[in-house]
Amino acid sequence: MDKILDFIETEVQQAFTECGYDVKFAKVTLSNRPDLCEYQCNGALSAAKEYKKAPFLIADEIAARLSGKDMFEAAESVKPGFINLKLDASYLAGYLQEMQMDKERFGCEAAKEPKRIMIDYGGPNVAKPLHIGHLRSAIIGESIKRIGRFMGHEMIGDVHLGDWGLQMGLIITELCIRKPELVYFDKDYEGEYPKEAPFTISELEEIYPTASAKSKEDESYKEAAMQATYELQNGRRGYQALLAHILHVSVTDLKRNYEDLNVSFDLWKGESDAQPYIPAMVQKMKEEGYAYISEGALVVDVKEDSDTKEVPPCMILKSDGASLYNTTDLATIVWRMKDYNPDEIIYVVDKRQELYFTQVFRCAKKTRLINEDTKLTFHGFGTMNGRDGKPFKTRDGGVMRLERLVSEINEQMYQKIIENKSVTDKAEARKTAKIVALSAIKYGDLSNQASKDYIFDIERFISFEGNTGPYILYTIVRMKSILAKYRELGEKTENAKILPAKSESEKELMLEISRFGAAMENAFTETAPHKVCAYVYGLANAFNRFYHETKILAEEDKEVQAGYISLLKLTKNILEKCIDLLGFYAPERM
Ligand code: ARG
Repeated sequence: MDKILDFIETEVQQAFTECGYDVKFAKVTLSNRPDLCEYQCNGALSAAKEYKKAPFLIADEIAARLSGKDMFEAAESVKPGFINLKLDASYLAGYLQEMQMDKERFGCEAAKEPKRIMIDYGGPNVAKPLHIGHLRSAIIGESIKRIGRFMGHEMIGDVHLGDWGLQMGLIITELCIRKPELVYFDKDYEGEYPKEAPFTISELEEIYPTASAKSKEDESYKEAAMQATYELQNGRRGYQALLAHILHVSVTDLKRNYEDLNVSFDLWKGESDAQPYIPAMVQKMKEEGYAYISEGALVVDVKEDSDTKEVPPCMILKSDGASLYNTTDLATIVWRMKDYNPDEIIYVVDKRQELYFTQVFRCAKKTRLINEDTKLTFHGFGTMNGRDGKPFKTRDGGVMRLERLVSEINEQMYQKIIENKSVTDKAEARKTAKIVALSAIKYGDLSNQASKDYIFDIERFISFEGNTGPYILYTIVRMKSILAKYRELGEKTENAKILPAKSESEKELMLEISRFGAAMENAFTETAPHKVCAYVYGLANAFNRFYHETKILAEEDKEVQAGYISLLKLTKNILEKCIDLLGFYAPERM
């Protein structure tokens, strides 16, 4: 179904044509003075120049035409030439009535030309615990994926594991010192390797930081780790078997962590999956004359005339022939194009990697790893800071582990829920706390424009009031409880007709609802989950205002009451759809 603004604009265009003016002037926008009107058209002001006529004369003519139409309760011309519009309450109710019939999309049209979009997010590094730096990528990427899917696109999420660096060599080296008897270290061994990993996830998470610390102090240790990495990457059997164990143990744990965050990926590919594509890619870049040797390294120039800052060449191979993060990212583009041929690849990565991605994208374009019309998009996000404005740390100044952060917030939320006394069963309170805490974390992040740094203010995020996730959930829970009470009265909550608004607050709620489709479309085109948040917050506020001014359950006129209930249900369904797009959901009680 068309967006409400399109319907309005069509009427206004007609009026312009009927009065003899070009339709290009018939642009309608949301009013920036909601106290005066709901929508406005300023076209008479620009038409005045072309038609050499006073703007208010044109506005008068148009307003007179529009006043006669059923769609408007009022169409006023205001000097010097504004046209202020208010929608007719019955028209608006009819529009909502149609939205409510569409149980899945509430009238929001899916893209007519669906695109295949790959989204690279999460980006955890194997064997290293997830830290809060990875939180943003997971939360933002998941939401972009869901919004895209809702808009009808084929979205393919790929976690792009960091599984190819020195960290692997470090783990192998440390393991070799601790358990030299393991068969993986025996060069002459030709049999099968054990199925069981020789370590648990907690051991693995302890081994890596220990090894990393040792390598910083001990040069020979570091060399051993580099040598192990080299041998691993060049196919030493025992090491590759170890890598498979490290990957398996690590990925099992990562999946559990992401599940707790309601984040999931279609592909669990990693940097290592790109390695087989490197030799042919490098060969081609050399043959076609793009890559050349500079100071021993193989590079591709990527600077452009219009650059205001220096963009250094993209390094393809180091002087010792080793591949780099760049090489892996380029080769990843190769298999993504080969296996999926996407229209676009979106990277949700810390914005400090922007220059790096500029190099990679330019290189991919220049060396034609992608098609002419494939879009590569860098969606950089800012830093998550503590209340002191500095990057978020633990109390003792260490790197905050994601799991620990989440469990701390779960605990605080649990206390709050117990104090609220709305959920008395302890086990249910724990479950509810997790659901609400997730909304606090995700909404706290997503409500900011992704590219900006933001303050991770737990106290504010977990509050049930203000622009927070829990406030949105609280509003939904309130609606659920009204619906339950309505049913207890023996009333049916089947979709009764939505009636024309009888009060200011009811109309405002209806206007907010009617803008759902436009808000989602906009959030998608601008890759902006924060726009979904802004919409959700406006809608929740509009509902709460309506609720405080309207006696729903005490309403005596049954038809009016049933209409309120339908309106409430539609609001609830839309809010629930929106939070699903943000990656969280509402409990029954809280
Ligand atoms: N593993 C990387 C990190 O922790 C992020 C990966 C981002 N994606 C990519 N295609 N480079 O910084």
